[in-house]
Amino acid sequence: MGSIRDSVISSGQESGTATRTQRVLVTGCNGQIGQVLVPALQERYGKANVFDSDMRGAASITLDVTDVAALTATIRRLQPTQIYHLAAVLSATGEKDPVRAWQVNLNGYFNILEAAVACDVKQVFFPSTIAVYGPDAPREATPDSAPTRPTTIYGIAKAAGENLAAWYRQKHDLDVRVLRYPGIIGWESSPGGGTTDYAVEIFHAAVRGRAFRCPLGADRALPMLAMQDAIRGTIEFMEAAPEKIRQPSGYNLGGFSAAPADFASEISRAIPDFSIEYVPDHRDAIAASWPAGLDDSSARRDWGWQPQYDLHTLSAAMLGHIAADQAAAAADSAFRGLSQVAVNAA
Ligand SMILES: NC(=O)c1ccc[n+]([C@@H]2O[C@H](COP(=O)([O-])OP(=O)(O)OC[C@H]3O[C@@H](n4cnc5c(N)ncnc54)[C@H](O)[C@@H]3O)[C@@H](O)[C@H]2O)c1
Repeated sequence: MGSIRDSVISSGQESGTATRTQRVLVTGCNGQIGQVLVPALQERYGKANVFDSDMRGAASITLDVTDVAALTATIRRLQPTQIYHLAAVLSATGEKDPVRAWQVNLNGYFNILEAAVACDVKQVFFPSTIAVYGPDAPREATPDSAPTRPTTIYGIAKAAGENLAAWYRQKHDLDVRVLRYPGIIGWESSPGGGTTDYAVEIFHAAVRGRAFRCPLGADRALPMLAMQDAIRGTIEFMEAAPEKIRQPSGYNLGGFSAAPADFASEISRAIPDFSIEYVPDHRDAIAASWPAGLDDSSARRDWGWQPQYDLHTLSAAMLGHIAADQAAAAADSAFRGLSQVAVNAA
């Protein structure tokens, strides 16, 4: 598999829209996706043209998207051509603090759209989610056209966000593009309070030789996607020629469908001692209202979406990368210990 940069560049060349002149603002850059998206964007457009912001942690710009004045001043100062708006409160956390979830996920996004119009930003990326679907959507191969009647505050805000995207496109000619992500799985960063977090945590537990307590039932299948695919697909989507974007309120972005027992079985092939206990909690109830698999044929047809990882290749990559990272961390700590001994002895 080639690098994200190679594949995005070749797809951009095909569509004739690859551009080196973007100035990009990313909100919520310290999250699971932002930590991987920002370096990919920097590689693509140059470090000086990508501005990473978050309300906390290490970010070049400290920015709370619910603070309208600070947000507008930042956008006016930076003059980005694109905003990747990742800042959000995720599903499991959102159910515990619905007021904050609404303020960040809807009002914060509304602030972004208003500031984008006021400051002549050309494009906004809005990451939506499979949580926009509720129990009345078909569970298998859920199409983009399925009803969006979600039962979580997270899903309700995201569904409203999708409609806002279409409205701003129509009323203000703002090129807002929306992808409905499934659970994103990667070795590069830690998840931040979503219902599918288990699908990353299970690999870390396995590599550390720990038993895993799974918050979802063994057979609770959900749509999943490799982080590498998600990042590549997102940049390809944002660079696709405007006439290829035919669904103003968003596209399903599919990878594969898997239940906790499927991940456990992949892990057990490599780590036969791996042990898992299923203790379904409130996250299992959230997952029960979501699709088990996505139909992403519209994205494939309209702008050429094509995932590269499946359950098997992603599981192998997760185990390999996490084990390598852990070995490197252990070697680093041993080196520091030896250096300290040498200093003490000197
Ligand atoms: N990770 C997934 O599996 C997944 C799936 C579907 C959709 N999404 C969407 O993708 C986006 C990124 O997800 P993620 O997994 O990286 O989320 P995350 O929870 O890991 O990170 C979100 C980031 O937003 C920041 N943030 C929260 N409130 C903020 C505010 N008021 N102002 C500025 N920053 C704020 C947090 O500090 C955090 O760094 C979100 O919009 C999420 O809804 C993610």
